[in-house]
Amino acid sequence: MYLWGSHLDGLEDFTHEFNKSIDFDKILFEEDIIGSLAHVKMLSAVGIITKNEEKIISCELQNILDEIKERKLEINLKEEDIHSFVENELTKRVGVVGKKLHTARSRNDQCALDLRLYSKKSLEKIKIKLLELIETIIDLAEKNIYTIMPGFTHMQHAQVTTFAHYILSYAQMLCRDLNRLKDTFNRLDENPLGSCALVTTSFNIDRFMTSKLLGFKKPTENSMDSVSDRDYILEILFNNSVIMTHLSRLCEELIYFSSSEYNFVKFSDKFSTGSSIMPQKKNPDMAELIRGKSGRCYGDLFTLFTILKGTPLSYNKDFQEDKEPLFDSVKTVFNSLKIMKGILDTIYINKEKMRSSAEKGFLNATDLADYLVLKGIAFREAYSVVGQIVNYSIEKNLKLEDISLKKYKEFHKIFENDLYDFINIEKSLENRNVYGGPAKDAVNIQINNLKNFINDI
Ligand code: ARG
Repeated sequence: MYLWGSHLDGLEDFTHEFNKSIDFDKILFEEDIIGSLAHVKMLSAVGIITKNEEKIISCELQNILDEIKERKLEINLKEEDIHSFVENELTKRVGVVGKKLHTARSRNDQCALDLRLYSKKSLEKIKIKLLELIETIIDLAEKNIYTIMPGFTHMQHAQVTTFAHYILSYAQMLCRDLNRLKDTFNRLDENPLGSCALVTTSFNIDRFMTSKLLGFKKPTENSMDSVSDRDYILEILFNNSVIMTHLSRLCEELIYFSSSEYNFVKFSDKFSTGSSIMPQKKNPDMAELIRGKSGRCYGDLFTLFTILKGTPLSYNKDFQEDKEPLFDSVKTVFNSLKIMKGILDTIYINKEKMRSSAEKGFLNATDLADYLVLKGIAFREAYSVVGQIVNYSIEKNLKLEDISLKKYKEFHKIFENDLYDFINIEKSLENRNVYGGPAKDAVNIQINNLKNFINDI
């Protein structure tokens, strides 16, 4: 039964199908009923309905909520949306008094409220998953403070680092994600209920009371804006897209680090699949899926941008299209964070392979140049001398530490025996003890700061 059915003929079946949103907004049943419970409480507090009417309505709303949760009541998917379903079900049960529930309210502020409540709940859930993933990264880092690996730029061997330093960079990204999430949460924490269709109501409602009952900081400031504002959904979709970008980059790296060419890491069987034809295969499907699912999150963001861009104030039915991208993005991010944690909890780190790879690619070339600088040579000159030494090494298939002092002296007379100690890989790492760097002490500071951050947020 349509809530607006008294003066219109009603829709053809196909048009009704096209118009309705219950197939996806049914997941808002709890938010919808909680919103209605606060609304009736306020209606009775300001004398718009009687205490007794409030009792009848809220008692039955609570029953409906419990029954849906216990799967005793099935949501009727023939209704237009979840708001219509709840109201019709209530009226079916309590009769005419149920028809008072919608006094001083519109579905426009109702659906805005439901979405904000859903958003707050979803952000809390994503926050927990982000925190858990950061904790997993910290654990992994603590176990790999001495795990030497090559650091890359342009995917070429660049300078020495450790697996701890490498993986902690992802924890930093996730901390920024948490901060963004917190900002968004604070901005959306305002109650649109009472905005009604667009210009509030002639009844003397108390928006501060419903705000308090529903756990919002305060009511929204302008009713027209409130029923048309979907900025907070854009923000969530953007934040989620950034989270997925971070996860996708990590997955991309782990995928090629797990290839036989690198063999730096091995995915657990729990997060790998086989091939239907090649019996030797172990494929990193879960990591690939996270990488792939980042695409759908970007799609969700752009879907909503496109929906909103031409909509006039205040409510337009276009807004009904906001829900599927939001629900999809929240579910995708939540699941991806959970899977990512599982991958990292069970991943095997091949320390020997990382160490031997760090021997290749002249990771210590910069150290050799720094050595010359310490002996008083200008950096540009030192750079050019080492460039020639590297060319010589490539030609002779030697590592920098394999070249004799006699040969070094041909490149520059200032070289002495202490150069070998200076270009030693462990030494090179130890020397990078600058704040934010890969040396043990610097990494321990990063870990401590991260622990403080996640305790405080
Ligand atoms: N199902 C609608 C939505 O999700 C509810 C609001 C309906 N309001 C209206 N004026 N038709 O946006």
